[in-house]
Amino acid sequence: MPDRAAMWHGGVVAYDVLFEPVPIGPVVARNRFFQVPHCNGMGYRDPSAEAAMRGVKAEGGWAVVCTEETEIDPSSDLTPSIELRLWDDRDVPAVARIADRIHEHGALAGIELVHNGPHAANLTSRIPPMGPSALPVVGSNHPVQARAMTLADIASLREMHRAAVRRALSAGYDLIYVYAAHGYGMLEHFLSSQHNHRSDAYGGSLLNRARLLREVLADTRELCGGRAAVACRLGVGGGVEETALSAAETREVVHELRDLPDRWDFVAGPWSVDSNTSRFGPEGEQEAAVRGLKSLTDKPVVGVGRFTSPDAMVRQIREGILDFVGAARPSIADPFLPAKIRDGRLDEIRECIGCNICVSGDHTQSPIRCTQNPSMGEEWRRGCRRDRRSLACRRRRPGASARPARRSCRPGAHAGRRHGRLTASRPAGRGL
Ligand SMILES: Cc1cc2nc3c(=O)[nH]c(=O)nc-3n(C[C@H](O)[C@H](O)[C@H](O)COP(=O)(O)O)c2cc1C
Ligand code: SF4
Repeated sequence: MPDRAAMWHGGVVAYDVLFEPVPIGPVVARNRFFQVPHCNGMGYRDPSAEAAMRGVKAEGGWAVVCTEETEIDPSSDLTPSIELRLWDDRDVPAVARIADRIHEHGALAGIELVHNGPHAANLTSRIPPMGPSALPVVGSNHPVQARAMTLADIASLREMHRAAVRRALSAGYDLIYVYAAHGYGMLEHFLSSQHNHRSDAYGGSLLNRARLLREVLADTRELCGGRAAVACRLGVGGGVEETALSAAETREVVHELRDLPDRWDFVAGPWSVDSNTSRFGPEGEQEAAVRGLKSLTDKPVVGVGRFTSPDAMVRQIREGILDFVGAARPSIADPFLPAKIRDGRLDEIRECIGCNICVSGDHTQSPIRCTQNPSMGEEWRRGCRRDRRSLACRRRRPGASARPARRSCRPGAHAGRRHGRLTASRPAGRGL
């Protein structure tokens, strides 16, 4: 733990690096805290609830707050999962509402555009799934087969992505993701020799398999035209479990495409490994897979690893492994994590314990829950009052130390009206 004297009335000096502004192409992030995309079981069904949830994170100090994966077309329909949709212009207002709430608190809004290809059974749209090759749809309980895409289908996929970029820009997003990770998106299926058996210009050699990713990145860059940044989320090899690319292939792809995105986002392994539980993986687990990739590009790099310790974050920044501290679960357990580090309230951080109950929202099509943060997913209907009150108490008493402030903000003091039922039985003190 840092010297308490160095953190009185403000942030810890050693953590200043976390609060430096960082340019991402045409936009500037106010600090290095980056809420990477995460789904939440609300998506297209509960966009107001999602907007409120993302807004709270922006208020909590995250520089960039992203949506979850957003389906770009009815031919990428993940039913029964509830993600966001930008199938056509009618979806723009709901998606714009989320960006608006993020902007209200001074953060940049990011959106992850995805065509799920042979991962989407299209149970709502009933469009025959498609992929680089004719193979069974992955991860569906239904016996559905994806058909192999023609060159016309590939051209049409690029046009779908372009249309979604235009809609995302009109909805006000500052950062647009191109997604090739977790074994889910079409672009990663093209990268994968396991799923891509083509013999034309989009199959065979690594550079051929990376052709569609290159084209979609270039399309996105052209459309963003300096208005918004382009991010590439790439599943990297060399982690505890292999992905579409080996470690050597990952280096080659990053080197080849190094200047196309304004920012790289590296994740190791399929989702089950990327969001590893604490039983099987420590904080910063992906370091070995990501170390060294930053040297292949001049663009800033974000990485993840259930980061809750500012010391671990600072080390990866100072050692040149990452430029941004990416977080999904730590931002779910504590949307105010950056603000607490900034203000030196380290003992108030609600640490993600890596239990993965939050993931169940996606699997049960219900709003996200967190064992450490009972407000998660309830911000819209019931508010997120506890941390705001804690901050308000500190603002009213600028000379007060963290401990008296916490006592004056003890749970009992706020157990009232809407949150009384949730908080009354909890003891005063650490955490909530
Ligand atoms: C509930 C949940 C939903 C997620 N949904 C997405 C998603 O929609 N798109 C995506 O690229 N990654 C998704 N992820 C993966 C995260 O972005 C992140 O890479 C991973 O959880 C590791 O980061 P963390 O240790 O900070 O949680 C999700 C993770 C969680 C926990
Ligand atoms: S539910 Fe568990 S894993 Fe998910 S954010 Fe909360 S503490 Fe972390």
